Amino acid sequence: MAVTTKGWEDKGAVEKFTTRSQEPDFWSGVEPFIQKVLIPLYNTGKNERREFNRALDAGAGWGRHSFYLLRKISKEVVALEPSEEFVKRMREIDKKEYGGGSIEIIKGGLPKTSFKNGEFNLIVCWDVLAHGTMDKIKDSAEELKRLLAPGGVLVLGTLSTNHKNFKIARKKGKEIEKGTFVGGFEGEWGGTHHYFTREELEELFKGLRIVRLEEEIRETGYNKGGIHWAMYAEKPLKPKALS
Ligand SMILES: C[S@@+](CC[C@H](N)C(=O)[O-])C[C@H]1O[C@@H](n2cnc3c(N)ncnc32)[C@H](O)[C@@H]1O
Repeated sequence: MAVTTKGWEDKGAVEKFTTRSQEPDFWSGVEPFIQKVLIPLYNTGKNERREFNRALDAGAGWGRHSFYLLRKISKEVVALEPSEEFVKRMREIDKKEYGGGSIEIIKGGLPKTSFKNGEFNLIVCWDVLAHGTMDKIKDSAEELKRLLAPGGVLVLGTLSTNHKNFKIARKKGKEIEKGTFVGGFEGEWGGTHHYFTREELEELFKGLRIVRLEEEIRETGYNKGGIHWAMYAEKPLKPKALS
């Protein structure tokens, strides 16, 4: 079954998210994580700066991370997004505001991309992976690993089984496979949502070095009070020898 983007093509959804994303508290839902996780990764503390020259924002939505990365971190950013409406919105943003970097906005999605192996040294995949059934989630995780350069970093946010909506989904939604529901997610549009356990994420991202995997409560924004996993993981410089 294909990863669904049902709901994200909806004009109302696009309107709500792109307009609301201009509100300060909506934005601050994302920025503390970036400050806490990405900036320390970027500044190694020895007057050195880690280079994240080419970044992928996988499932970029309305571009809030893509443009943030372009402003603060990466010279080249690729925003990959399947929703026509969001792609259109991102293309309307005036890139002149974002310094000398380049941004490529591509309509497409996980798990199948045409990027080269190891093309990116930073990948952000934030609130995207949950929109699918496990077979596609597995393929998407494999694709993210393939696209990451040795030494590159993956920053991933996704729903936890401790999210308040997990209980609601169990009551009101339809469980189409273990942990995956259609409907029951308050404020969304009937798309598919998978709620992850720690073990599932560790299994999916085997082969990467998981530096941090923690549950966080979203403090502001549309998802206020929701518990999400926040993970960053590095691709080893050399693959582990098989024992
Ligand atoms: C909750 S939004 C998050 C957007 C963005 N990452 C952010 O945090 O602002 C989820 C996004 O994932 C996109 N999406 C859904 N399925 C996808 C897939 N298979 N590959 C890439 N993006 C996908 C949707 O179109 C939507 O824009």
